[in-house]
Amino acid sequence: MTALITGASSGIGLAFAEQFAAERHDLVLVARRRDRLEAAAARLQDRHGVRVTVLPADLTEDGIWDRISDELDAQGITVNTLVNNAGFGVHDDVANSSPADLAREVQVNCTALVGLITKLLPGMVERRSGSIINIGSTASFQPVPHMAVYGASKAFVLSFTEALAVELRGTGVRALALCPGATDTEFFDVAGESARTGRSRSAADLVRHGLRALRAGRSSTVHGLDNALVANIVARLLPRRTIAAIAGRATGLPQENQNVSAG
Ligand SMILES: NC(=O)c1ccc[n+]([C@@H]2O[C@H](COP(=O)([O-])OP(=O)(O)OC[C@H]3O[C@@H](n4cnc5c(N)ncnc54)[C@H](OP(=O)(O)O)[C@@H]3O)[C@@H](O)[C@H]2O)c1
Repeated sequence: MTALITGASSGIGLAFAEQFAAERHDLVLVARRRDRLEAAAARLQDRHGVRVTVLPADLTEDGIWDRISDELDAQGITVNTLVNNAGFGVHDDVANSSPADLAREVQVNCTALVGLITKLLPGMVERRSGSIINIGSTASFQPVPHMAVYGASKAFVLSFTEALAVELRGTGVRALALCPGATDTEFFDVAGESARTGRSRSAADLVRHGLRALRAGRSSTVHGLDNALVANIVARLLPRRTIAAIAGRATGLPQENQNVSAG
């Protein structure tokens, strides 16, 4: 069994790699920072005796899914589990943001995710087995002022994945949108402590939660009871304008400068 994980050079992606390696899955690790991927590959191969393939790639590149899929074919690798985890958020008002930054955000968070799934899904359906895990966010559930494109991209991930899960019924392939709240990763190194909203949880705990939900046949799940209450009850009951205003206060910009971060 082989799992391909995007954004595997740090944070949640690396935690997925560690969990899958511990379960004796071979791995394909994708991200831009080759040195980080190679260090993780050496450590995981050594500790768990699994095969780890490093595939450095920038997911903003046009057609990157073709290059990744060609590389998998060339190396004879069949992917059984695809984790679309790479993502980042521009933390600034739209009026202050550059079109290029916002386009890159959509490209990594949405376009590359759809591209990779579209390339790898036919093989999974043909084999009548496979899993797709897409990383959403608690930001998937309401508009997020000051991170407007990020919130919209994560709403896309949730909607797309839940629709896909229905399309895949009876095929033997599962799709899950895993929606973390605040999670301890490099996000807070980049965005600073002011970006932390609510209690932070560990990436390892998030991954265990996600895999339980996948194996239970869920199509989406929110990590943390407090986060799930806000996403599934409060955000649905309050008027959209009200929940957007509350989210805007939580993500307000302390300094009027731009931060680029995941979250
Ligand atoms: N941490 C949180 O509180 C939180 C909450 C909700 C959702 N999330 C989501 O969780 C996912 C993982 O984020 P994280 O928290 O683990 O943050 P992180 O530690 O900053 O990880 C982000 C990963 O995405 C990769 N990445 C970013 N841009 C890329 C690009 N252009 N091409 C290829 N890879 C790229 C990074 O690798 P390179 O820099 O090496 O390319 C890195 O491995 C993201 O989708 C994020 O939106 C995080």
